[in-house]
Amino acid sequence: MARRLNVAILFGGQSGEHEVSLESATSVINNIDLERYNLYLIGITKSGQWRYYDGDVSKIVTGEWEKESKPAVFPGDPSYRGFFLTEDPSKIYPIDVVFPVMHGPHAEDGTIQGLLELANIPYVGCGVLASSTAMDKAIAKVIFAAHGLPQGDYMVVLKHSLKEDLDEVLEEIEHKFTYPVFVKPANMGSSVGITKAHNRDELVEGLKKAAKYDRKIVVEEYINGREIECAVLGNNDPKASILGEIIPSNEFYDYHAKYRDGGKSRLLIPAPISDSKSKEIQEIAIKAYKALDCSGLARVDFFVDKENEKVYLNEVNTMPGFTQISMYPKLWEATGIPYSKLIDCLIELAQERFKEKQ
Ligand SMILES: Nc1ncnc2c1ncn2[C@@H]1O[C@H](COP(=O)(O)OP(=O)(O)O)[C@@H](O)[C@H]1O
Ligand SMILES: [Mg+2]
Repeated sequence: MARRLNVAILFGGQSGEHEVSLESATSVINNIDLERYNLYLIGITKSGQWRYYDGDVSKIVTGEWEKESKPAVFPGDPSYRGFFLTEDPSKIYPIDVVFPVMHGPHAEDGTIQGLLELANIPYVGCGVLASSTAMDKAIAKVIFAAHGLPQGDYMVVLKHSLKEDLDEVLEEIEHKFTYPVFVKPANMGSSVGITKAHNRDELVEGLKKAAKYDRKIVVEEYINGREIECAVLGNNDPKASILGEIIPSNEFYDYHAKYRDGGKSRLLIPAPISDSKSKEIQEIAIKAYKALDCSGLARVDFFVDKENEKVYLNEVNTMPGFTQISMYPKLWEATGIPYSKLIDCLIELAQERFKEKQ
């Protein structure tokens, strides 16, 4: 048998999705095939410190891992391909593949990916460009439009324009859309900072809220749609999974409905839709994946109009939730790839892309 690969799992991170990452990473650690891989756990604290942890896995979700961890560094020297502990920089821990199991800004937005490119280490998931374009909803929409992919009407508002001329911004929005509208920070995730605004007061509040998270805000027409998601896996020849549907427990799939509702939001796998509609959505999912030049994995999210079944692309998530009960792994499981096999695939895809690039 081939030698075991050294895999570093990155978890935590500085984004609002730190806790989600702890859950995703715990699932990966508990399910990865230890016959095939040696694991190195590197946590990134909320303040951005990189730390090596080799204790009890159950202390990751509780946050206790931090106290028992040691400062660690991934050097940008391409000849090492590994990391060291700051207490002993002479000992390098060689790493074959990094799996950044982190979500949101400074995690799945191309920044970590750029650092790993500089360190010359293969990593799971999308590269720098795909990660950053998918993370920025305003930029992703421009690319989708250029590829003729179906999406709702939208408008980009800069935070500074709210200060300069709020009334003009409000008039422009009200001229273009009818209420309700969705207001979002361009670069976030997990529904953080998102508002469904039903009137002018809520719009003003929503814009202010989104502006807390980003200098760029996206306003979108409201789509009264079912929420359908497709998992995509692969590099040059990506494949689409069967589809899933989210039935949110709140008025929309907000942070509360996603994580705090004791699982009251339901996932339907497979999504109860016709074969022809599924096929149409899977094709758009692959096109969106290729349009952003994704590799490894991404989850592509849609709205399907409840009345006329028109399909709208919503967003591409390059590091989707990865707990055992998350949509992405569940969709692959239902399509025939069990969780631990999925991790093997992702690691192989990371190595394949790295080799192709060298
Ligand atoms: N234009 C829209 N029309 C209807 N619902 C929307 C719209 N945009 C977002 N939503 C709702 O808000 C949720 C979060 O929005 P999304 O754009 O997916 O942001 P995030 O990146 O935080 O997941 C969606 O899952 C959906 O429930
Ligand atoms: Mg979403």
